Amino acid sequence: MRLKGVAARRPLPQPKGYPWGRFAHLPRWAGEPLALLEEGAALGPVFGLGLGRWAVVGYSPEWNRRLLTDLETFRSKGSFSSLTPYLNGGIITTDAPKHKPKRQELNPYFHAKALVGLKGRIRAALEERRPQGEFEANSWASLVAQVSLNVAYFEGRFPAGELARFLAPLKRPFPAPLWPRPLLFAQVRRRVAQMRAAGFGLAAHLPGEEVLIGLAAGYDTTAHTLAWALWHAACYPHWHTPEGHPLLIKETLRLYPPGFIGSRRVAQALEFDGYLIPKDSLVLYSPYLTHRHPDLWERPLAFDPSRFQGRIPAWGYLPFGGGERICLGMHFAQMVLEVALSLFGPLEPLRGDPQPRPGLTLAPRGELWLGLGA
Ligand code: HEM
Repeated sequence: MRLKGVAARRPLPQPKGYPWGRFAHLPRWAGEPLALLEEGAALGPVFGLGLGRWAVVGYSPEWNRRLLTDLETFRSKGSFSSLTPYLNGGIITTDAPKHKPKRQELNPYFHAKALVGLKGRIRAALEERRPQGEFEANSWASLVAQVSLNVAYFEGRFPAGELARFLAPLKRPFPAPLWPRPLLFAQVRRRVAQMRAAGFGLAAHLPGEEVLIGLAAGYDTTAHTLAWALWHAACYPHWHTPEGHPLLIKETLRLYPPGFIGSRRVAQALEFDGYLIPKDSLVLYSPYLTHRHPDLWERPLAFDPSRFQGRIPAWGYLPFGGGERICLGMHFAQMVLEVALSLFGPLEPLRGDPQPRPGLTLAPRGELWLGLGA
């Protein structure tokens, strides 16, 4: 079948869908996006999906490189991020040529060196909240992400209940993260303005809109990664050491990248692998597919942090995206994850389901109960 809107020199393959034109894959996308992506990937390095708009999905290193380095062609505004009020603004929807100078203003606050002073304060705040007995990793990880963001952006002064209420919809199933919430956003904007005026934390240095975007982009991503990392630290105690944690985190992010799909809108027609992709198409890259591809990774489904002691494929590992738009909070997230893991001695996996469940980001499907070992 020829994709309407995608002028192909040869027809772009598509996984099974309904005969509903550009809505062909919407029900499967809503119900089982990972299976749909895997079925598409089996058809070739690029494939088409009808998601209300025609979308072209790719996962090869070359696709990732092009999509993430050519900011003139691949635009963020008008992509999937614009569908949720949480990610529709600030640096996320700023495109070239304004993106670069804006990032240059924000980057210094998020460099690894700039975070050194913050580490001790985050450790102290998390030590106070260390579980004393059996605990559920998802709930505790959510608390860690909220507390760490609160300490970084507001010196811990943002009312905890208000922050939790603002961030909660991000972790709910679709369509909850997409609903506009004007009253909630207005209330949080007022509170952020108060914190900025009082000169608290990072908020004092950043535009208010960037504070909101940072909180939203950094919450569920960090929380889900930490829940999985704790579970795997319990299952693979050999890696639960200060030297092992960085590799354990990398491997957790390989198998379970919270940002399992990234999207752009193409500003001008382009050709990829013999397909013509017209202006205004939606294009998707998928860290989930790239990270599990057998051409790029040996035994891709095995949890094996030692693979990061060797070379990793260029543009084949992108849990934080890549290029100029690489995650602003990458070093912050890594620091929080390492501090949180380091609070624990031996851990015991009690019961749980670590398989991924897709929502706005990828999350563990079920509760993950851990015990504190001897
Ligand atoms: C493990 C945790 C995290 C993961 C896996 C993650 C993942 C990502 C990914 C994949 C992107 C690129 C999206 C794209 O361009 O397609 C991104 C961008 C971004 N992230 Fe993160 N993120 C995490 C934590 C954080 C934290 C803690 C913050 C803030 C403190 C943050 C703030 C941002 C921002 C502002 C952007 C947009 C950057 C731009 O467009 O220039 N993220 N993140």
